[in-house]
Parts: sequence; C-alpha cells; structure tokens
Amino acid sequence: MKIINTIDSLRYELKLKREQKSLVSLVPTMGFLHDGHISLMKKAKEETDTLVVSIFVNPIQFGPNEDLDRYPRDLEGDVKKCLENGVDILFIPNISEIYPKNFQTVISVKEVSKGLCGDSRVGHFDGVATVVCKLFMMVLPDIAFFGKKDYQQLLLIEKMVEDLNIPIKVKGCEIVRELDGLAMSSRNRNLTPKGREIAPNLQKFMKMGVQLYSNGENRASIIISTIKKELENLDFKIDYLEIRDKNLKIVENLSQGDIMFAAVFLDNVRLIDNLEIF
Ligand code: PAF
Repeated sequence: MKIINTIDSLRYELKLKREQKSLVSLVPTMGFLHDGHISLMKKAKEETDTLVVSIFVNPIQFGPNEDLDRYPRDLEGDVKKCLENGVDILFIPNISEIYPKNFQTVISVKEVSKGLCGDSRVGHFDGVATVVCKLFMMVLPDIAFFGKKDYQQLLLIEKMVEDLNIPIKVKGCEIVRELDGLAMSSRNRNLTPKGREIAPNLQKFMKMGVQLYSNGENRASIIISTIKKELENLDFKIDYLEIRDKNLKIVENLSQGDIMFAAVFLDNVRLIDNLEIF
C-alpha cells in the first residue's frame, strides 16, 4: 500500500496503474474507519483492481458550532485497517493541498441540498459536494463507493455527477450496523457509555414505525408522532424525523419503498439513520 499526501504523487501513481489497464475505485472517508467503511472497501476491491481510500476531515462541511474539533481521529489505526483490507493507495492530503490559499469555488447542488440535513446543517452539502468533486477530479476513479446511511449525501453526489457530466459511476452500499442495531458511524465514539446504551433505541423505534405501517397505519404524521414520543422519553433530542420517498419528496400517505429519515442528538452527538418502509 502506498501512502500519498500530495495530488501530484497521487496522479503519478494512478497514471502508472492506468497504463496497466487497472480499473480504479475510490472510497472517500473522513477517517476513524469502522466496519461500514471496510464494507465499502471490500465491495470496491471486488469490483476494481486499484482501490484508493482518501482520509480528509473536510472543514468546510462543518458549521461553526459543529463538531469539527471533536471529530474522532486515529490515523495509525486507519492505516492498519487499510493495510488489512487491500487498499492500494491511501491518500491523506493536508488542508493546504485541498484548499490552497485563495481557494474560492463552491459546488452547490441546489434542490437535493434542501430539507433534512440540508436544513439543520446550513452549508454542509456545499462543503461535501465541493470536496467530493475535488477528490473525483484528483483520482478520476471508474467507480466511487458511498454508504446509504448518508442517503441525502448519496443522492447529492449522484446528481452532481449527472449535472457536471463527471464520467464516474457512483455506487451506494447498504448501512452496516452494530449487533444491537446502531448504524455504524465514527461519531458513535463520542457517545458516553450511557448514551451508547440508549442509542440503539433509535433504530428500534424506527422499526416500530415500519411495524405500524405493516399493521395498517399509513399516515406518516401518526407514525412519526408515535416514534417521536418514544424517543423523547429516552432523552433523544430530535433534529428531524420524516418520511419521504426515495427521491426525497415528503409523503403524507406511506407506500412501500418510502424511507424514514432521522437525525437526533444524544449526549450532544448527532446521529443519523434511515430505514426503508417495506
Ligand atoms: O461521508 C463522509 O465521510 C464525508 O461526507 C465525505 C463523503 C468523505 C466527504 O468529506
């Protein structure tokens, strides 16, 4: 595995790989890698020859009162995990490599950035689109892999690729969960032991919502208010809990394939999750 810090060396390495007709994949991450990231790496490794993983905690996707400083980091552990999982190139740029002085371009995917995380994290998706576009331009992978836990982010990247005619295939992969149902996230590390105990209830009560639908209730408002009540009893602070269709259109009367989206705070840690209605 090559560990690379500059765009020039990254391009040089990838040029050599392409000369060998190697199919290239990219798994962009902000580090503190967990089994969710590793499942993306495994998929990427199955489908391509050269796997590039990037680790960059992107400051411009964090708002002023968000957790940039508290975002967990473990570079040594991440390098080990990448080595163990067949990563060919680990790209770890520093901030000036990505945002040199006087950097002034922003990619904004207008409609997909509205609602859900776009409303509660103003500017977040512009930050994501900008950095992912830059990483795409640097690596020019054949396929890029993203997790469906960040469903809105996945749709945003798909739309950006379509709108800007970027010749990259974007693949969304299933959410990976802890045994108790909590969706894997680097932020889970910041939960207190008590918070970690309570956290799986988010998924538990979202599942209860799906069960209500299976039992014949199809009014989104009723299902949402029932789940909210249960979560608030457990000290979750709800940022949003909504049911939308797979294109993120709000639905009033549910049907199969719609998705329940949640963002909550627990111990000041923001957790997101989603669950398809089936
Ligand atoms: O999902 C993430 O970890 C980040 O938003 C991403 C895609 C690596 C961009 O910084």
